[in-house]
Amino acid sequence: MTMLDTMRSYMRRDQVFEFLIPDTPPDLDLTHGMILYLEGITVSFDGFKAIDDLNLYIRDGELRCIIGPNGAGKTTMMDIITGKTRPDAGSAWFGQQINLLKMSEPEIARAGIGRKFQKPTVFGRHTVIENLELAMAGDRRVWSTLVARLDGEQRDRIDEILDLVGLSEMVRIRAGSLSHGQKQWLEIGMLLAQNPKLLLVDEPVAGMTGQEMERTAELLTSLAGSRTVVVVEHDMDFVRSIARTVTVLHQGRVLAEGDMDEIQNDQRVIDVYLGD
Ligand SMILES: Nc1ncnc2c1ncn2[C@@H]1O[C@H](COP(=O)(O)OP(=O)(O)O)[C@@H](O)[C@H]1O
Ligand SMILES: [Mg+2]
Repeated sequence: MTMLDTMRSYMRRDQVFEFLIPDTPPDLDLTHGMILYLEGITVSFDGFKAIDDLNLYIRDGELRCIIGPNGAGKTTMMDIITGKTRPDAGSAWFGQQINLLKMSEPEIARAGIGRKFQKPTVFGRHTVIENLELAMAGDRRVWSTLVARLDGEQRDRIDEILDLVGLSEMVRIRAGSLSHGQKQWLEIGMLLAQNPKLLLVDEPVAGMTGQEMERTAELLTSLAGSRTVVVVEHDMDFVRSIARTVTVLHQGRVLAEGDMDEIQNDQRVIDVYLGD
């Protein structure tokens, strides 16, 4: 029995009594140190298995990189975690108690899973600080009323976030005038305003300069620990600069998992992905 098999048998969630789970999700229960369990997940699109019996476990506080060739199922996997796509089979748990497959997209976001898409979606005509206030207030329709009501603690958190994402000097700049990298950081800041426990980040450094990539590596590294960060990324230099554990997806399954050295020397990975 491999280490992974042992972990799997330990973590099987099939026996949970689902009727005991109330309509509002319970608090995030991290008693086993795991924040995300995907087990036996399968999704077909017109008979094609985009995700095929996928098992993936993420520890609380880790920074995990997911790599894999185009079409490997990386985005679909994130769609399942965030409730955008429903799998045909399998289970998806957030901590010990929260069954993601029974929740809507907004419920999953409220439970503490934030997602950053590849393209930044900041509000270009609004300033950096307004974008963060909006994210903190949560509800776009009643923005001005809610922003006016942000309390001192929330204001302090906005300041902390500005500091973390390196935009403290740019609060009055319109988001539309920021560089591509700065927009990405602002969007990460907007996610942080919602205080997620798990952050999913899809290709954060696509289109960034080398310096912006370095800064992003620092930022994501500093977020892990108090939060859990899962990064899908193609840029291998970037992955090398932040990676602890790397998971390689291929044809909707985990092909290999390990540290960067193990991954780079794995013949199966070289054959499908790294080799030219
Ligand atoms: N909504 C969809 N309808 C049909 N096929 C899809 C859909 N979403 C993804 N696919 C297919 O599933 C496979 C995995 O896609 P995706 O998750 O986007 O891969 P990756 O992000 O790793 O490049 C691809 O073959 C893709 O064409
Ligand atoms: Mg993708």
